[in-house]
Amino acid sequence: MAKNEVILIIGAKGQIGTELTVALRNKYGKDAVIATDLLEPNSSLLKDGPYMMLNVMEKLAIENIVTRYKVTTIYHLAAVLSASGEKKPSHAWSINMLGLMNVLDVAKIFGLKVFWPSSIAVFGPTSPKILCPQHTVTEPTTVYGITKFAGEQLCNYYHEQYGVDVRSLRYPGLISYTAKPGGGTTDYAVDIFHQALEKGNYTCFLKEETTLPMMYMADAVRAALELMEVPADRVKIRTAYNISAMSFSPKNLAAAINKHLPDFIMHYKPDERQKIADSWPRSIEFITATSDWGWQPQYDLHEMVADMLKHISKNAAC
Ligand code: SER
Repeated sequence: MAKNEVILIIGAKGQIGTELTVALRNKYGKDAVIATDLLEPNSSLLKDGPYMMLNVMEKLAIENIVTRYKVTTIYHLAAVLSASGEKKPSHAWSINMLGLMNVLDVAKIFGLKVFWPSSIAVFGPTSPKILCPQHTVTEPTTVYGITKFAGEQLCNYYHEQYGVDVRSLRYPGLISYTAKPGGGTTDYAVDIFHQALEKGNYTCFLKEETTLPMMYMADAVRAALELMEVPADRVKIRTAYNISAMSFSPKNLAAAINKHLPDFIMHYKPDERQKIADSWPRSIEFITATSDWGWQPQYDLHEMVADMLKHISKNAAC
């Protein structure tokens, strides 16, 4: 990234945004990263640099920030996740699609570079379950997945038609200790750590054998930074790259936690999120990301569990 580049983060208070904002400020300097969200800043992390309120549905407001601060790159992270989207499909469609369209339009006008996260939710029951490849059947059955699939096509369209340098990753379930996710199907894999340490038990909303692709946030943030640093001619996929790090079921995760907390007990009470989880692949193949820009995950299940427990225990003690 050149010295005079300025980054705008939309959705900085979400699960990805909270950690990506810190990582980008560490890498490029705090004044080069403008964090924005719908919400008031309440975290010291987000106050440690420019922060303002922004609604991605207001294109003019995005344009004003871009012009005023000479923004060169947007990380657009604001979205309604899978389980929330099923409760309010038209709201999910508006935020996820029109929000992305606004960002891409602004990027087209001002010649900006864009990062936008896609998801394994682009896949559906007809996609391969094991090592789901980059190019395959994508027939999502959630409104969230439909918006991610359509969003990928829109990114590719803006790249092909208008030369917008937009880059994307199909994130698996993301696990982090800083900010909790909200309204996703993979959220159990974050909640479980808090409940295990606070109460010693957790009631999981997915069945014990439900295996899904997952990634620790440290890897997810690094993947975004690495993809955005790669020279444009090496970014061959302008929809979104498959990436993954590990796959596990609730039962596997409980067993890994039991190695540290032998008394921890898991109960199971599957709800409507089971159907969403059953529609997604169990594992993801990411050879294209590895060959195009060198993607390699660092954290496996056991390293992730050890790090999560260490940080959540430390935060609770503060
Ligand atoms: N973690 C997301 C969700 O569960 C998937 O991208 O909705």
